[in-house]
Amino acid sequence: MDRPLIEISHLSKSYQRGDQVIPVLTDITFDIASGEFLALIGPSGSGKSTLLNCIAGIDSVDGGNIVVSGTDIATLREGELATWRSRHVGFIFQFYNLIPVLTALENVELPLLLTTLSAGQRRDHALAALSAVGLSDRTDHKPSQLSGGQQQRVAIARAIVTDPDIIVADEPTGDLDRQSAADILALLGRLNAELGKTIVMVTHDHRAAEAAHLVRELNKGELRAAS
Ligand SMILES: Nc1ncnc2c1ncn2[C@@H]1O[C@H](COP(=O)(O)OP(=O)(O)OP(=O)(O)O)[C@@H](O)[C@H]1O
Ligand SMILES: [Mg+2]
Repeated sequence: MDRPLIEISHLSKSYQRGDQVIPVLTDITFDIASGEFLALIGPSGSGKSTLLNCIAGIDSVDGGNIVVSGTDIATLREGELATWRSRHVGFIFQFYNLIPVLTALENVELPLLLTTLSAGQRRDHALAALSAVGLSDRTDHKPSQLSGGQQQRVAIARAIVTDPDIIVADEPTGDLDRQSAADILALLGRLNAELGKTIVMVTHDHRAAEAAHLVRELNKGELRAAS
C-alpha cells in the first residue's frame, strides 16, 4: 500500500471569542489517499469549512499533525505555508471568488503571477485550463457576463492552472441550479479520474456527496464514515 497523501492525526482547533473558547475540531484522525474524491458532510457549524481550511493550509491548527507527502503543514510558518499552498492546492469556493474587473483568462492567470513563468507561458497555461473546463469561447468575458455555472468553471480552471495535486472545494455547487451543479460535479469527477487530482469537497448537497467516492460526516467536532 502506498502511503496516504494526507495523514491527519489528533487535529484539534478552537476559536476564541472574548474570554470564551469554542472547540470546533477535537482529536480528528483520518487519512486521505492519493487520488481520493472525498465528500465532507455534517450540520451547519460542525466545522467542515474549518477542517477543509486546515487541510488546505489556509487556517492554523491548535494541535495535531497534517502530514502531506511527508511535510507536516501544521508546523510550517506562514511564509512557508503560503509557498506550500501555491504549489500543492487549488481552491474552489461556493461564490466563485473571481475578480469582477478581470476577464476569465486574466482570472485564471492570477495564480501564475507567483511563478517564474513568462507572460506567454502564463497565457498558454491559462488557455489550456479554460479549454479543460470547456470555456475556450469565453476567455474575454468578465464574470458578470457569465452564468453561475460558467463562473464556477472559470474558478475551477483557476484552481487547476498551477497543476496542484489537491483540490479543495467548499460547497462548490451551493449557489448553482441543478443542471449547472451536475455539470460541475461531472467536471470534478473528470479531474479526479483523468488527471488524478485528489479532491476534498465540503457539501450539503446529497447529489454532490454521491459524486464522491467516500463520504465522511463531521458532528460535534468528531468525524465518522457516513453510509
Ligand atoms: N473566525 C472565527 N471566529 C470564531 N468562531 C468561528 C470562526 N470561524 C468559524 N467559527 C465557528 O466555528 C464553528 C465551525 O464553523 P465552520 O465554518 O467550520 O462550520 P461549517 O460546518 O462549515 O458550517 P456551514 O455548513 O454553515 O458552512 C462554528 O460554530 C463557527 O461559529
Ligand atoms: Mg462551511
